[in-house]
Amino acid sequence: MKKDIRPQFHFTPKKGWINDPNGLCYVGGIYHMFYQHYPDDTKWGPMHWGHATSRDLLSWEHQEIALYPTEDEYCFSGSAIIDDEGVMRLFYTSHNPKTGEQTQSMAYSSDYIHFEKYDGNPIIDNSKDLDNFKKDFRDPKVIKNKVKGGYTMVLAAGENIEFYSSSDFINWTYSGSFAPGKLGFGGICECPDLISFPEKDVLTMSIIVNPGQEDEYHVMQYFVGHFDGETFVNEQPFQPDQLLDFGDDNYAMVSFSGTDEVILMGWGENWASARANTNTEYFGKMTLARKASLLKVGNRYLISQKPIVSDEKVVRLEAEGKVLITVEDEGYVEIFAENGTKSLSWMSRK
Ligand code: FRU
Repeated sequence: MKKDIRPQFHFTPKKGWINDPNGLCYVGGIYHMFYQHYPDDTKWGPMHWGHATSRDLLSWEHQEIALYPTEDEYCFSGSAIIDDEGVMRLFYTSHNPKTGEQTQSMAYSSDYIHFEKYDGNPIIDNSKDLDNFKKDFRDPKVIKNKVKGGYTMVLAAGENIEFYSSSDFINWTYSGSFAPGKLGFGGICECPDLISFPEKDVLTMSIIVNPGQEDEYHVMQYFVGHFDGETFVNEQPFQPDQLLDFGDDNYAMVSFSGTDEVILMGWGENWASARANTNTEYFGKMTLARKASLLKVGNRYLISQKPIVSDEKVVRLEAEGKVLITVEDEGYVEIFAENGTKSLSWMSRK
């Protein structure tokens, strides 16, 4: 049997398949990462939410599975926030594998380990008999609405991003939409995020370009502007360098809630590497967590990212013969971990 080679710096599951990071949040000195997970095979399957915790974003402790699928519900990607009572609320998409319907659901936990699905799910319906039924309607990111109070849910709705607002997490009202394809890369939107930087708000999203065609590919793009409390208003003409990553192995990247700084993490794979997978024990890794900020380049704002690796950790890892290597070139930085072979590189604007 082929021995799987595990990355030394990046999160991998104990066994089975992982894709997108979900429910990234920080509470009580602990980072929680949930993730799309199928524990029974190294291929995508009925989606669970796996769970891991960390104090430094580099060493992860496996926790028990947070959400289990049923025959009618695969638990697709979503987000987490801690409410005013200290309850962790997970927002996820219920994907019905029989009908293809995608609705939005909630689960919660007071100990941050055991989760209960809300018995009034779905909190946003999208059944086939509705006039405005959408085939692709998923990946809720819930954030505090800083302009109007209450909460906003950012959703991928086909080729658009939609915004919903709520004051109680249960009743959600549509407030607006944004069509990225008119300005940037068009295609099926997935895993959106609305990130508030000191200078500007940034709307990020993953896109399947040319879905289902031979030349299908995936990108993560972002738009710079402001959230007016109902929808996102673009302020900066899009240019094709507004990507969250210039390498292949990153998708579905989103930010942590509950942190002072913007911290991003993505699925350190792409669907092409996933299809070519021959691992027998597990498949999938996460990117390193990265601190993100906005950088003014001429009259434009661009996202700059740095991996979060404490000096102490690098020293310890060097002592183990593993080295993080940084290559800087023409305004970009490439970082890769070396342990005999070059692996896991990523690139970002400096
Ligand atoms: C992105 C994605 C999400 C979906 C999940 C299913 O990689 O397709 O849109 O919720 O994966 O596993």
